[in-house]
Amino acid sequence: MTKKSFGDPKTISQTLVPSYIRELKVYQAGKPIDELTREKGLTRISKLASNENPLGPSPFAIREMTNALWDIHRYPDMHAYALKSQLSELYNLKAENITLGNGSEGIMGYIARAFLGPGSEVLTSENTFIGFYILARSVGAQLNCVPLTKDFRYDVEAIAKAINEKTKIIYIANPNNPTGTYITKTEFDLLMDHVPDHVLVILDEAYFEYANEYDDYPDSMDYRYDNVITLRTLSKAYGLSGIRVGYGFAHEDLIENLNKVKLPFEPNLIAQKGAVGALKDRPHLERTLKTNSKLLKECEQFLIEKNFSPIKSITNFITIKTGSAEASDFLFGKLLDEGVIIRPLKANEMADFVRISIGTEEEMQHFYEAMTKVLPEYDNKYGRSEI
Ligand SMILES: Cc1ncc(COP(=O)(O)O)c(C=O)c1O
Repeated sequence: MTKKSFGDPKTISQTLVPSYIRELKVYQAGKPIDELTREKGLTRISKLASNENPLGPSPFAIREMTNALWDIHRYPDMHAYALKSQLSELYNLKAENITLGNGSEGIMGYIARAFLGPGSEVLTSENTFIGFYILARSVGAQLNCVPLTKDFRYDVEAIAKAINEKTKIIYIANPNNPTGTYITKTEFDLLMDHVPDHVLVILDEAYFEYANEYDDYPDSMDYRYDNVITLRTLSKAYGLSGIRVGYGFAHEDLIENLNKVKLPFEPNLIAQKGAVGALKDRPHLERTLKTNSKLLKECEQFLIEKNFSPIKSITNFITIKTGSAEASDFLFGKLLDEGVIIRPLKANEMADFVRISIGTEEEMQHFYEAMTKVLPEYDNKYGRSEI
């Protein structure tokens, strides 16, 4: 018997898919450059939407990945010896304390799979990284979210107060995406004073390299808690978003359990090799941080001159209030017409804000020109909103 078309889509999904999966929304990534080229036929496009490294990857990483292409008929080293050795050396840790994944988000997925299940309670903040909300909900966990402070920071005291006997995991993105703000050393100490030993704290440090330049930013490698897992990535400052390599540091017992639920051979061969090359290239990282720091300040200044009030960021992106979802959509759409892709924040429950990633000097110039062009019409419609 041949069946030529699918039946009623609801029949299978209602019986097969748990309600907590049905209720999820698919993650919305920043608009890809190719899509905009296809849609609008533009040639000058600046993507300032996904907090990537606009300088690109290190040539060391490219060399390693290119050489590895000859070996892709073989599975990679399942234990990723070279990459783990390099991370061990960089952070003075044993390989048993390290796990790797398909981006740090891949490791978050493994944490959810290993430690959470229907009914588990997870404590975090509102307006933080959506990827984590999705992964926690995808295993049926219940999310308890505390509002941000008035200055768009994690409210550490409120989080400490909200811990209960059912809390299994506390998720802290430090710095936070999409606000670019951070919890300080003092706040981290305060939080850890309140966290019982049986609660796992995920410290998501995707923007660690940018943040570490600030004296009161708590570098989690300076601490040793048995119930903290640090997650970092090569997708941001190391410029390898396209191959996604993330790493996690924690007590060996936690790592061993995570490794049990992990897909073997992840990260893949090219990703392992690219990461090894990228981590070796300190000058590329320094150039990245120096360029970002200069352009972040300039962007902040530009936005202030245009009468916006950017949220103080220590990352490679900056978030501004537009005042309404409509104003955000308008600004996003008008900038898109000019070839500049920024990020509206509706999915983060911050529809009245937009986020701008820091690009190259040239891309930022493009953004400034486009903003200067579209702002008179924007002002006519929406004016400015104080934050
Ligand atoms: C706070 C935060 N954590 C994790 C990630 C995911 O990074 P990766 O590519 O390593 O999965 C992102 C990406 O935007 C992020 O902003």
